[in-house]
Amino acid sequence: MNFIEEIARRRTFGIISHPDAGKTTLTEKLLLFGGAIQEAGAVKSHKIKKSATSDFMEIEKQRGISVSTSVLAFNYEGIKINILDTPGHKDFAEDTFRTLTAVDSVIVVIDVAKGVEEQTEKLVEVCRMREIPIIVFINKLDREGKDGFDLLDELEKKLNFKVCPLSFPIGMGYDFQGIYNLWEKNLMLFEEENKQKIANSIKINEINDPVLNDLIGKTAAKKLIEEVEIINEVYPDFSKEDYLKCKQQPVFFGSALNNFGVKELLNCFISIAPAPMDKISDERIIKPSEDKFSGFVFKIHANMDPKHRDRLAFIKIVSGIFKRNTPYFHVRLDKKFKFSSPNAFFAEKKEIVDESYPGDIVGVHDSGNFKIGDSFSEGEKVIFKGIPSFSPEHFRYINNLDPMKSKQLAKGIDQLMDEGVAQLFILEMNGRKIIGTVGALQFEVIQYRLEHEYGAKCSYENLNIYKACWVETDSKKNKEFIDFKKLKSKFIAKDKNQQLVFLSDSSFSLEMTKQKYPTLKFHYKSEF
Ligand code: G4P
Repeated sequence: MNFIEEIARRRTFGIISHPDAGKTTLTEKLLLFGGAIQEAGAVKSHKIKKSATSDFMEIEKQRGISVSTSVLAFNYEGIKINILDTPGHKDFAEDTFRTLTAVDSVIVVIDVAKGVEEQTEKLVEVCRMREIPIIVFINKLDREGKDGFDLLDELEKKLNFKVCPLSFPIGMGYDFQGIYNLWEKNLMLFEEENKQKIANSIKINEINDPVLNDLIGKTAAKKLIEEVEIINEVYPDFSKEDYLKCKQQPVFFGSALNNFGVKELLNCFISIAPAPMDKISDERIIKPSEDKFSGFVFKIHANMDPKHRDRLAFIKIVSGIFKRNTPYFHVRLDKKFKFSSPNAFFAEKKEIVDESYPGDIVGVHDSGNFKIGDSFSEGEKVIFKGIPSFSPEHFRYINNLDPMKSKQLAKGIDQLMDEGVAQLFILEMNGRKIIGTVGALQFEVIQYRLEHEYGAKCSYENLNIYKACWVETDSKKNKEFIDFKKLKSKFIAKDKNQQLVFLSDSSFSLEMTKQKYPTLKFHYKSEF
């Protein structure tokens, strides 16, 4: 297979959902279809149980499991599928946002009873910002849930989707009979007694075929015919072009737990989902088919063994072929690095690889040099766009509890921030360090890891901050900007990239500040 064919057969995507909608179950079923695992239950749930907010063993387990499930690769019908795992726990949402910078498409899982939930809205917003093509899978059809059309409406209203149903349920919950597949124009019947079997599809030539009455009964057949008519009238025809431009979202229905509708989803996915796409860098657009290798770090994972403080950096390959033992240029450090044992990830194992292609993820060992967002190339100074930091939700001062260990604490904080565990802000006025996180759980993770991995003890001090806003000005000499810096000096900090951040203590004061300084722009994310 040549280089271009290797690129064309790759699909790198993420599955996102509100916790409990069925992301883990769906991932597992996809792996089963791909022959990557032999039985259900092989992919351990990597969720931190909701109650275990201070159970450090759980945190450690999560970290351990998430290395092995960070990338799940398998082959299906000649297509190389790379699923990038995203943490289920909402406190780790920032991790998910970053993983979304490395995917070419996503599947959103929705619980039929709960519809669009809060976490889904946030994640979809990030996908939309990055124009990532989205397929929707409405899960748990074996349970009572919302009406199919109501759910389609909800997707349009809450997520701003332009939906295109490619399958539709026949009944639901107790009355669930199966699915009509509008994509392949066939019927799949649900067998209650044989839940783990992959259902066979029944070809019907057209929806008005009288055989439908025999298969699902007269009443259900009449209803289905009406529903398909409505779908044909109300919803647009599927357009691959619109889907790829994030202007249309195909929707499938099914039940991951029952293996139902999953194969249909997968078959459609491999035929419509995009192969590795062009990536925008600071200077130019980089095509996967370019000869020269380029890639970026989207995730860093601390090694589980505290004695060896090396880490695993996950690089998404953007262009060219990544080769083992070849020196590559690290753009930020202006230095070459060579990797003697890059790892590729498969469903149940990781392996050292000699070559990897665009779309693939390699894990390389790092002794503390790399940061999320770092680029590698064969010499060109590429900086990839699209790894922003978002305003954290929780803020606390971090204090050193052991003056003898201040160096260790500083190093620990630095490295944990590079890993993306949380964000560090340093107040301009007095140099105090503030940690910002998405969920409260991270504060405990940081405290625990600083102590166990770096031998440093810290405490926190509460701080009333509403949001961190990155400040944009046309010029540092702008009079408003100078005035703002002087007047708000108590609330001004620098982030890890020395960008100026306004830590506003309430939505009211943020609004007032915006009004007072109309030429300045305040952003909730670090890239604008
Ligand atoms: P998540 O990764 O999105 O958080 O969800 P996960 O797959 O862990 O699924 C959450 C719960 O929903 C699990 O039950 C799972 O078995 C169930 N589930 C997933 N798909 C379906 C489906 O199609 N139908 C039904 N009825 N249930 C489904 P649990 O009791 O929380 O966990 P477990 O003990 O079954 O592992």
